[in-house]
Amino acid sequence: MDARIKKKELDWAELGFQYHKTDYRFRAIHREGGWQDGELLGDEIIPVHEGAPSLHYAQQCFEGMKAQTAADGRILLFRPRLNSERMNQAASRLLMPEVPEEMFIRAVEETVRANYPWVPPYGSGASLYIRPMLIGVGENLGLKPAQQYEFRVFVSPVGPYYKQAGLAPISLAVSDIDRAAPNGTGSYKVGANYAGGLLATVRAQQLGANEALYLDSAEGRYIDEAGSANIIIALKDGSLVTPASRAILPSITRRSLMHIAAQELHMDTAERPIELRQEFASFAELGACGTAAVLSPVGKVWFDDSWHLVGGEGQNVSPIMQKLYDTLIGIQRGDLEDSFGWLHEVSI
Ligand code: PLP
Ligand code: COI
Repeated sequence: MDARIKKKELDWAELGFQYHKTDYRFRAIHREGGWQDGELLGDEIIPVHEGAPSLHYAQQCFEGMKAQTAADGRILLFRPRLNSERMNQAASRLLMPEVPEEMFIRAVEETVRANYPWVPPYGSGASLYIRPMLIGVGENLGLKPAQQYEFRVFVSPVGPYYKQAGLAPISLAVSDIDRAAPNGTGSYKVGANYAGGLLATVRAQQLGANEALYLDSAEGRYIDEAGSANIIIALKDGSLVTPASRAILPSITRRSLMHIAAQELHMDTAERPIELRQEFASFAELGACGTAAVLSPVGKVWFDDSWHLVGGEGQNVSPIMQKLYDTLIGIQRGDLEDSFGWLHEVSI
């Protein structure tokens, strides 16, 4: 890449989590049993047939990743093969063709490289959000899988997902709407899960919360996840727990944080059912984690018609979440040693 190519002059520190049109996106079409090589395009508009199964029957899935600039200028992806694996699990579940890992990684790398001026600089607090997506296109009226698919990757520079800056606590409101059934599609990153959750998020926001918190849909007792993030909980006994559930998205951020907690912070960790009402008093800190959310401490949770403060009255610091956040972000930005081999450099 020509070193004279300049970064865009954006107010990086002021970016929120919004779509920002960048110069290039990757597109590959699957038809007659095979994938094209794919190409970079300038046009952000996708012409889609009005009969496309992605529009009618939600035959589509997507991923969320980030690229960060390190202090030495390297551009770093975080565990991108896990996103490829998860996208293929969703593709199989919805009877869509898998995207070969080689194509997925090449598409992400090419899109990031082509949009180099839009990758936020080191220290700006912003990052480049990467949205791979797979959609059923082409004409199809009856309920059956599409005959054609489009795999697309676009990127957008973004700031924090929740309005609160940095590690300021957010709030969650338990939803009376179910996100996913135990044997449904909750563990897949498919758009249909999110359409059904929009009302829950709006209702949570009407209560003054940032996001909805879902309990298990069978009994309404156990914590599942938030609308846009998984949950981790530091207990007063010093351990870190996270919900075991078949209905939640297997978050890559959560897997990484649990690993950091066990390996670097030497905490006891467990993935197990967590009963909200019975166990709330034993919570010292609660965090919402994900690619967009990173790790946001949760200060209070709305359930049974009132707010409940995490950690009890007077608790307004989250030292464990802070340590986990610092370690995760430190690895992702290349400030800390990549001892687990999680980084993937995009050559420029
Ligand atoms: N849960 C939901 C519903 C999400 O949308 C996300 C975001 O991707 C996550 C959890 C976190 O997953 P990850 O850490 O892989 O981004
Ligand atoms: C992500 O964190 O990447 C997501 O896909 C969450 C989404 C609701 C923005």
